[in-house]
Amino acid sequence: MTIKKLLASAALTALTAGAAHAEDVEVLHWWTSGGEAAALNVLKDDLAGQGIGWIDMPVAGGGGEAAMTTLRARVTAGDAPTAVQMLGFDIKDWAGEGVLGNLDDVASSEGWDAVVPEALQFFSKHDGHWIAAPVNVHSTNWVWINKAALDATGLAEPTSWDELIAVLDAMEANGITPLAHGGQAWQDATILDAVVLSLGDDFYKAAMIDLDPDALSGEQMVEAFNRMEKLRGYVDDNFSGRDWNLASSMVINGEAGMQMMGDWAKGEFLRADQTPGEDFVCIRFPGTQGAVTFNSDQFVMFEVEEGAEAQKAMAASVMNPTFQSAFNVVKGSVPARTDVPNDDFDDCGKKGMADLADAGSNGRLFGSMAHGHSVPAAVKNAMYDVVTAHFNGEYDAETAAEEMLNAVESAQ
Ligand code: BGC
Repeated sequence: MTIKKLLASAALTALTAGAAHAEDVEVLHWWTSGGEAAALNVLKDDLAGQGIGWIDMPVAGGGGEAAMTTLRARVTAGDAPTAVQMLGFDIKDWAGEGVLGNLDDVASSEGWDAVVPEALQFFSKHDGHWIAAPVNVHSTNWVWINKAALDATGLAEPTSWDELIAVLDAMEANGITPLAHGGQAWQDATILDAVVLSLGDDFYKAAMIDLDPDALSGEQMVEAFNRMEKLRGYVDDNFSGRDWNLASSMVINGEAGMQMMGDWAKGEFLRADQTPGEDFVCIRFPGTQGAVTFNSDQFVMFEVEEGAEAQKAMAASVMNPTFQSAFNVVKGSVPARTDVPNDDFDDCGKKGMADLADAGSNGRLFGSMAHGHSVPAAVKNAMYDVVTAHFNGEYDAETAAEEMLNAVESAQ
């Protein structure tokens, strides 16, 4: 049976079994941390206000790798959820399978074409049709610093690699863990996004987007891995397997100095009642100011026999400008539409919005490798393996650069 037929029969089974109310949406997502759950509540409440029920299907793990594995199993079993949080190339892959719903009606009646940036539309559309509703734009080249820990170093916010190392050294001398990190492949890869970008826009584009063999295995990639190794030296002994939000907590409570993480980390600081500029500082990864490696969470609707109205209502809600402000203020991301005012955003959010607009107009906006916006999942996962093996000491920098090329070539 084709996946399409499986889905249709699953919808019928669900209907006859009374498993899901026609006005419910079952949503598969990986928003399981405190800050993420708070943002998700904004969406649940909004839908509840319209009489649309929420069936929760959480699968933890940034980058969505685990969620995508669960999704594949559900679809193969003929039981796709009605709505799914998805990133970049995963959307394109599923669209190619012909199993996604078409959101053209709602997109045209609500004028999405005019307000969603091209870089996002590239992922939200398939063959010219809207197949996903973007809820936000995150970016990965951020550093979150405990303000008191930075002040205690007597140094300024770092703007270059050397300044960054000086701050990390000073934090170490002050007796805290300089860098809070969780040893999971996607987190290692998130740091790599920023480290590669800090070696130049051209290098990021050549290595992470164009998969240029010389860039993947050349001197700059060796330098990127040398920098990863240097950063590894500032991480505590218990980093292996730690969830990203627990690393954020270490910065929040002053046990650690900083975390290199996408702006979903801000959601954790806000949940802990911290204020940017007072309790914590947000800076672009040193050497990357002006450029942005982005990822956008989008909601994809699977084709269903029943419940398409609830799906459309959910898509419309997600794209509503008032909702986009309310949700992203809590989530740490910025709106996926260009016409949302920044009034309700804190200083980091305002900076995020301004940086995104600048990077977009200056040709400095790039899809994040770690979060599925630069290459398809097969290549991304191959890169994950190399980054993680290197971070855990299996490869030296030269070998890692060679393995990066090998891994990408065999995944393509
Ligand atoms: C998603 C974010 C999420 C983060 C950590 C990223 O891939 O885009 O929305 O907060 O993973 O779970």
